[in-house]
Amino acid sequence: MKHIRRLLDLEPEEARSLIAEALELKKRLKAGIPQHSLAGKILALIFEKPSTRTRVSFEAAMMKLGGQTIFLSSRDLQLARGEPLKDTARVLSRYVDGLVVRTFGQEVVEELAAYASVPVINGLSDKFHPCQVLSDLMTIAETGRNLEKIKVAWIGDGNNMANSWLEAAVLFGFELRLACPEGYDPDPEVLSQARAHASKRVILTRDPVEAVKGADVINTDVWASMGQEEEAEKRREVFAPYQVNRKLLKQASPEAIVRHCLPAHRGEEITEEVLEGPQSVVWEQSENKMWLHAAVLKYLLAR
Ligand code: CP
Ligand code: NVA
Repeated sequence: MKHIRRLLDLEPEEARSLIAEALELKKRLKAGIPQHSLAGKILALIFEKPSTRTRVSFEAAMMKLGGQTIFLSSRDLQLARGEPLKDTARVLSRYVDGLVVRTFGQEVVEELAAYASVPVINGLSDKFHPCQVLSDLMTIAETGRNLEKIKVAWIGDGNNMANSWLEAAVLFGFELRLACPEGYDPDPEVLSQARAHASKRVILTRDPVEAVKGADVINTDVWASMGQEEEAEKRREVFAPYQVNRKLLKQASPEAIVRHCLPAHRGEEITEEVLEGPQSVVWEQSENKMWLHAAVLKYLLAR
């Protein structure tokens, strides 16, 4: 059974063709050419954390391909009363054709996938956000850039997004420079795996300027992720030198694009001016989540 628990569940060719298919579906559906490849299929979404983009884009994608969805916040399930994940996975697999899960521990995604007999897709865990990075890469490809040749900077927390960017560097072979404050590095195993297997350089620095010099793509994300709300105040102090603002952007290539998976905290990790500025691709990227999810669902559920 094919799952997307993390990006390295995909082979490089699979990741590339998902992006190509997403661009194609976007073109066809925008031209009004109907797609019914998921007619009769049902997708369940189990979300233990809030979501605007991931939830709605997965549901909309499923519906655009003729399928239907069932959204389940974790409190709606017997999981909330202690029913084991392995039982939930086996029962839901009898009703639906695929599961998207947004949760805390990556082990929840792993266990659901171990027991489900339908594809399980990670819609964000504390460790990874694989489909988000795929839609970011689709957005970069859409600007005409060659994904193997780009230089990508990551500024801020070594969080779930940073870990998925590391796995993307292995899949796509681009140079990745991460600037994270001490104590907030990406997952050490994910980092060393990326360093061992990526064909281009993977650099971890404390200096945001070093990371953005010559970069084509500048990424950032919230300083306190979902579940870390109590650390937010401390993090605001630690991360202050890591804000993506006009001064930092000047160090990058003038054509560099800026992305943030959103939701953003304006005035913290990114300034209003940069988020709303001409180099920002955040709205295109948010839209592309839907097209990328459509490609993912078609690939996993229409088999
Ligand atoms: N980017 C993203 O995953 O947003 P949501 O939390 O709104 O799904
Ligand atoms: N790192 C953020 C991403 C939100 C889409 C979080 O986990 O909250």
